[in-house]
Amino acid sequence: MKVLGIETSCDETGVAVYDTARTGAGGLLAHAVYSQIALHAEYGGVVPELASRDHVRKLLPLIRQTLAEAGLDTRDLDGVAYTAGPGLVGALLVGAGVARSLAWALDVPAVAVHHMEGHLLAPLIEHDPPEPPFVALLVSGGHTQLVAVDAIGSYRLLGETLDDAAGEAFDKTAKLMGLPYPGGPQLARLAEDGTPGRFRFARPMTDRPGLDFSFSGLKTQVLLAWRDSDQQPQTKADIARGFEDAVVETLAIKCGRALDEAGCDTLIVAGGVGANKRLRARLQEMAARRGGRVCFPRLDLCTDNGAMIAFAGALRLEAGQHESAEVKVTPRWDMATLAPVARNPVSAGAQ
Ligand code: KG4
Ligand code: ZN
Repeated sequence: MKVLGIETSCDETGVAVYDTARTGAGGLLAHAVYSQIALHAEYGGVVPELASRDHVRKLLPLIRQTLAEAGLDTRDLDGVAYTAGPGLVGALLVGAGVARSLAWALDVPAVAVHHMEGHLLAPLIEHDPPEPPFVALLVSGGHTQLVAVDAIGSYRLLGETLDDAAGEAFDKTAKLMGLPYPGGPQLARLAEDGTPGRFRFARPMTDRPGLDFSFSGLKTQVLLAWRDSDQQPQTKADIARGFEDAVVETLAIKCGRALDEAGCDTLIVAGGVGANKRLRARLQEMAARRGGRVCFPRLDLCTDNGAMIAFAGALRLEAGQHESAEVKVTPRWDMATLAPVARNPVSAGAQ
């Protein structure tokens, strides 16, 4: 089954084709992402209306380009998957409108995909995908969640952030130190030159039981340290390193606890912050110490993309799920309300 995936929930237009007749990464026939970073940079954050309009401009050319790269025609498609939420309502409607219309015209089913389920399943696109049960750490610009995955589609929230998401904390901290938008990757790059230990910030909420997070206080600690410092380039890098270490260590401690609580040893990590090198290394080390396994998507599938939507949608379409021909989006959507996927999707794709 060849499924077109469309992602337009925020500031990236993502399109991909996934073919379930092939295994893992081989199923990804083509994927392309157009990032709106330059468009929003001068405002220091995403402007929703500009995001929607740019998706309108970029989506159809990107679909044509992706199909051409896959060597396919629209008539070769067996289904269309699109992000229906959570996200910016106007941006989501662009993808939903195009996806539904295309599916209607081609007389193929269309399926609404939960953006965070897309992220969560992205590590399964890779070679030798893990089988549930496992624990997923979802760390993006809008979410920080620990989820117990009993089966594909059955998600139990173990813990989440009470305020800022991890990516949001990276972005806001970067901004207060004067780094350009989007700050997360820039801050991580700066931290590479930082001296470990010169600035030590708290590991929030690790001194008490539980799996929730809080990152907003950390941002304030950095603000105070930055204000009181000489603000020289090396100090900036040292503060960035101190901040990154605090976030990474906090996430690692809670991931360890979540694995204990769920009684399993496989962790999967997804979402934009999953691209952070130090987080990847720290979680690898933790998994090795436990005799377990940690799985990440490749770097370009950590941040928003159409491949994860094509893949998640393909699993649901293969399980016979799709909705009526109605352009509907769900800007706020709890992942725990999703329907389970009846068959084992990994082996379903691996014939
Ligand atoms: O998943 P994503 O592309 O979009 C959302 O659904 O939010 O995640 C974007 C977030 C941003 O906050 C960005 O700063 C952060 O991921 N991010 C990083 C890195 N790359 C992206 N944060 C830390 N280190 C990175 N290397
Ligand atoms: Zn995302």
